[in-house]
Amino acid sequence: MAGLYFHIPFCSQKCNYCDFYSIVPLHRKPEFVSALAKELENRANELDGEIIDTIYFGGGTPSLLSINELKLIKDAIVHNYKLNSDLEFTFEANPENITQSYLVELLKLNINRLSIGIQSFRNEDLEFLKRTHSAQDAIRSVKLASQSGFSNISMDLIYGLPNLDILAWSENLKQAFDLPIQHLSAYHLSYESGTLLHKKLKNGAFKPLAESKSTEQFELLLKMVDNAQFEMYEISNFALAKAYSNHNMSYWKQKKYLGFGPSAHSFNLKERSWNVSNLVEYNQGVLNGKSIRQIEKLSVVDRANEMIMTNLRTKWGIDLFTFETNFGINALNRLLLNAEPFIQTKWMVKATNQLHLTQEGYLVSDFIIERLFAVD
Ligand SMILES: C[S@@+](CC[C@H](N)C(=O)[O-])C[C@H]1O[C@@H](n2cnc3c(N)ncnc32)[C@H](O)[C@@H]1O
Ligand code: SF4
Repeated sequence: MAGLYFHIPFCSQKCNYCDFYSIVPLHRKPEFVSALAKELENRANELDGEIIDTIYFGGGTPSLLSINELKLIKDAIVHNYKLNSDLEFTFEANPENITQSYLVELLKLNINRLSIGIQSFRNEDLEFLKRTHSAQDAIRSVKLASQSGFSNISMDLIYGLPNLDILAWSENLKQAFDLPIQHLSAYHLSYESGTLLHKKLKNGAFKPLAESKSTEQFELLLKMVDNAQFEMYEISNFALAKAYSNHNMSYWKQKKYLGFGPSAHSFNLKERSWNVSNLVEYNQGVLNGKSIRQIEKLSVVDRANEMIMTNLRTKWGIDLFTFETNFGINALNRLLLNAEPFIQTKWMVKATNQLHLTQEGYLVSDFIIERLFAVD
């Protein structure tokens, strides 16, 4: 089981909260598509012929690629990799780019999962976040995706904004569940250093939402998700009728994936690697046969900590048998010893072969995870 991730590093405008690598000018798109095709070819042997189960086009803004550009990338994928007949193929789209003809062409390319970056249904929030779409675009895009034949639609929302009160958040969620979606990703706004929003916060231009209000919004999220019969399967991810993001599950469950494009990360169980976060260096490097990737070998402790951190964010938690097989009985005993105080406070539960967080535990997950980490 393996996945392919494509980082499409273009955006029509930079949102003020976002620190993902992307640039606004589009004139390097043709060169980027050639570089992607070359990188796909160069790395074709890295997976030893393993079948690809998931493909994910993320960004940046994949919906800024033309259908012809997408066809060129798809051809390079098909030419170099073996795809599962049951492939999950996700495409991130921004609401303002979604038209019926574009959606129909995406379906023809066998893209079968659409992830739409809605963020909020309130124009006030969209302006605060410097998004380029309106609340009306948001609703229209989801309806159009469903009418055009997508039956696996995910939506991204952001909560914890300074001016988003609990009533507004509940209305955003109500609007989300009134639309034909099968999956929701809801992220608390984070202030990433280097972003414009972070700078404004530091300058005192606004006050962040009080922590008690963030907690209240998270609790409301869990309640409304449950009422809508969505299942929380990861701290920020919710699925209707098991429509999980299988691609993202490979990040949380330690499966192999190759990442293509500037800033994309790859993982092969033993090493993590990442491409240069600069489009010009990426294009020129790949096209001139130079290395654009840095590689980090993971120690046993790194791998154990990674498993603790990613698995605990999911509803399944840590599979204790797999943990012991990978890291030995001493590491397992240390993990259980470190978890004991949190089991006592009911922030964690130890089932026969599983150690997972409870709803109360999710509220302090970073604190717990740090205390469970193995050390050298
Ligand atoms: C990097 S974007 C790429 C997708 C697409 N360009 C978009 O904006 O919808 C993926 C998602 O990450 C989330 N995101 C990015 N930065 C964030 C931040 N600082 N805080 C919370 N969510 C964030 C947004 O919900 C966004 O939809
Ligand atoms: S949130 Fe999406 S559209 Fe906005 S800058 Fe980041 S990648 Fe681009």
